[in-house]
Amino acid sequence: QFSEQKTLWLFGYGSLIYKADFPYLQRQPARIMNWSRRFWQGSHDHRGTPEKPGRVVTLIEDPGRVCEGMAYLITPEEFLHLDHREKNGYLRLATEILFRDDSCVNGVMYIASAENSAYLGPASEQEIAVHIANSEGPSGKNADYLLQLADALRELDEKDDHVFAIEQYLQTIQSEKN
Ligand code: BEZ
Repeated sequence: QFSEQKTLWLFGYGSLIYKADFPYLQRQPARIMNWSRRFWQGSHDHRGTPEKPGRVVTLIEDPGRVCEGMAYLITPEEFLHLDHREKNGYLRLATEILFRDDSCVNGVMYIASAENSAYLGPASEQEIAVHIANSEGPSGKNADYLLQLADALRELDEKDDHVFAIEQYLQTIQSEKN
């Protein structure tokens, strides 16, 4: 379906904000409308294990809200490679991507909906922080994923109440452990 296209834009809102371990042609801070980031997806393969999944972000439809992230311009070849890799319940969805100069492009993003088997769904931000504090997988500690995401959002000068609230709870848990 991308054969006519020389490049495409991918919107990243999770680890893709701070870690792009693939070649890209351009990288731009960007946002999408009517979606919010939530730590509602289970991670069996990166920040947890099948027996003890971690929590990573997905998007929920949220009319009127904005989700900030990072857009990458990539080649179709690179996209097919990523498409194969980013599984564990994530599906590709078309989206409009807005840049800081108010221009916009059509692109794609990966979301994990409630229908996938790894989905964990809502919990309080405090419960999510406890869950993250106790999870670890082949890619490292679940806590590092959260802290890196929160740092990356601050670096972009953006806020995310959900992410920052969980980060606060996590820091409280970590300081109580020490
Ligand atoms: C993201 O950062 O947008 C992302 C990363 C891995 C899987 C799905 C989405």
